[in-house]
Amino acid sequence: MTAHLKQDGPVDRAHLDGMQQGLLGKAVPRIEGYAKVTGTATYAAEYDVADPAEGVLVTATITKGKVTYIDNDAALAMPGVLAVIADARMTTRPAQGTAGEAPEQEPQSVSYWGQPIAVVVAETFEEARNAAKHLVVAYEADADVDLDPAAAQPEPQDGQAVEMGDLTAAMDAATHSVDLTIETDGHASAAMEPHAAIADWDGDNLTVRASLQMLNYNIAELADALGVEEDNVRLISRYVGGGFGSKLGISEEVVAAALAARQLGRPVRVVMSRQQVFQCIMRRSETHQRLQLACDAEGRLTAFGHHARVSNLPGESFAEPVLQSSHFLYGAENRSLGMDLVRIHRMTAGSVRAPGEAVGMPALEMAMDELAEKAGIDPVAFRLRNIPGENPEEDLPFTSHTLADCLRQGAEAFGWDDGPRRPRMRREGDWWIGTGMASAARVHNVSEAKARVRLTAEGRAVVQTDMTDLGTGTYTILAQIAGEMLGLPIDRVTVELGDTNHPRGPGSGGSWGAASIGSAVYLACKALREEIARRANTGEAELGLKDGAVAGGRTLVDLLGGEALEEVGHYEPGDNQDAWTASGFGAFFAQVRVNHWTGEARVDRMLGAFGFGRVLNEKTARSQCLGGITWSIGAALTEALHFDPRDGHLANPDLAEYHVPVHRDVQDVEVLMLEERDPLASAIQAKGIGELGMCGGAGAIANAVYNACGARLRELPMTPDRILAALPE
Ligand code: MOS
Repeated sequence: MTAHLKQDGPVDRAHLDGMQQGLLGKAVPRIEGYAKVTGTATYAAEYDVADPAEGVLVTATITKGKVTYIDNDAALAMPGVLAVIADARMTTRPAQGTAGEAPEQEPQSVSYWGQPIAVVVAETFEEARNAAKHLVVAYEADADVDLDPAAAQPEPQDGQAVEMGDLTAAMDAATHSVDLTIETDGHASAAMEPHAAIADWDGDNLTVRASLQMLNYNIAELADALGVEEDNVRLISRYVGGGFGSKLGISEEVVAAALAARQLGRPVRVVMSRQQVFQCIMRRSETHQRLQLACDAEGRLTAFGHHARVSNLPGESFAEPVLQSSHFLYGAENRSLGMDLVRIHRMTAGSVRAPGEAVGMPALEMAMDELAEKAGIDPVAFRLRNIPGENPEEDLPFTSHTLADCLRQGAEAFGWDDGPRRPRMRREGDWWIGTGMASAARVHNVSEAKARVRLTAEGRAVVQTDMTDLGTGTYTILAQIAGEMLGLPIDRVTVELGDTNHPRGPGSGGSWGAASIGSAVYLACKALREEIARRANTGEAELGLKDGAVAGGRTLVDLLGGEALEEVGHYEPGDNQDAWTASGFGAFFAQVRVNHWTGEARVDRMLGAFGFGRVLNEKTARSQCLGGITWSIGAALTEALHFDPRDGHLANPDLAEYHVPVHRDVQDVEVLMLEERDPLASAIQAKGIGELGMCGGAGAIANAVYNACGARLRELPMTPDRILAALPE
């Protein structure tokens, strides 16, 4: 049986409030935590597959051109080497979001330095690595390369453009205005678990164990790449050591393993090295942004201009959606928003955690801080004054809106001083101390999702879907939803994820996972409750299910009478996706110190207040917010991809040179989660949370750096050299 909901309007009665089990929303520890900390949770490279051969990828050492020759014979003469495979199907994978339309490319063409061009397979990893390192490859290099985003020809992205009123006239006429340019460096996803795959053919049937975010979509990508039917492919991804967008699509190791395993008639494992993960996996584009804001004497915005330039490879469709939340966050009648994409020969640009707002929001919030200062208005009060009652660009009401509450409650919890502000008010030894704040916003999405819930005759629940858990807590929240709805303690719920033999989930990405798959599990359980109520001769609302028994004492096992029950929940977004503006909101507050001599900035204290509908698990939701704030600190102070201007190769392709925040960089961080229900956001009244915590946070840190030392930075991250250069005399 299938319980289907296409959500066209609000879901007002979500059974999840007032239930007896009392599981949902609680800080339930991760149900897979024990397996993870004891090392029994299998990550992609760790599955026990009999006698795999080992593959190592070979990457291009030119920026653009063709592979003309590979010395296979020399490689095959090396110890243990079984095959050298240079196949265009491996290297010309479909662009993100375009399964079924693989771009036509010449075989073995190279479009960026570090692009995988071949896989060498051997008996052992060491033999494969040795042969890959010594593989002789000849190229025909094309000198016509574009490496500088500032010099390339811009392609306007018309879908992003908005013109309302007259921005220039409003800027000219305004009491206060700012017109500034902010640049952000590129980011890497830098997930802990490297990309890896083990492929295993049984006749025409292929099983690939890999580290992937969206099995529902990856199966189509892989089938397309190999020219086989989806029915012949099974993907397994039970545990994922972080993805952050880098595993939304399949990458070269998956196709390489599948091709090599087919050729050799034997399982093949391909694991990317850390350097390959950095050099081959999608980057966040650097951005160049112009902010033009103006307000009247009372601090009401009259002009809002946000224009951005981002880059990608020729032929790729993805453009970092920098303006995503700028379209609705603040009111102003005169608006001009636009985006350009330039084509350069750097590695592919794609989704890296919170694509768009992660870099767009900090730049906007830095400009807002400057305008508040010019207008002589406290930055919290300035934002409160400019929250629109409705979407300023389109007739799409907000599903719910918590920005004002987040600003007020966050300011109070942080101890925000709304007195007069100017730089260098506080100095401790060699350090200037300052505070800053910013708004947070991240669009909310849901996606089609299916999950099966089986109630066994023994009174246990089993949840099955191909949904993944990137470390976000999916296993746990689904167990909580099923346990709450079916009146079972959490140890009587089993959750099986990451296998395409199960019903298709929405995949993990864009913060849509929990709300979408949670809704599917909810729908399946609701249908099961109706059947249980029928058997108990009562109404579904009167069931009073708790600890495996209904009100009055009859047990579930008794009501099931030796029979198992099963339902598939099927959730689809409907008109609610197109008729409303749905977003999570929040506010960041930061206290930083800046060293007077070295320009080193440190975040002493940070607080984020967030509103994102129902909190499904107090602990895992908080962890997502903490993770977002950690990303904010990285984006503000240290994280930057550096490309060699001569050939575009990534010059800092490892965790020693690409500086993610470490424990010492993340000091006192506090998270406030507002109690909220959003009946339009999903069937379980929850919104996305994964990415919200980094959508503006770097701006709060930049504003605090200014308040500390007087340096208005125009580039992120704010490395010591940049801070020293920006310090006023
Ligand atoms: Mo996210 S960047 O859509 O995994």
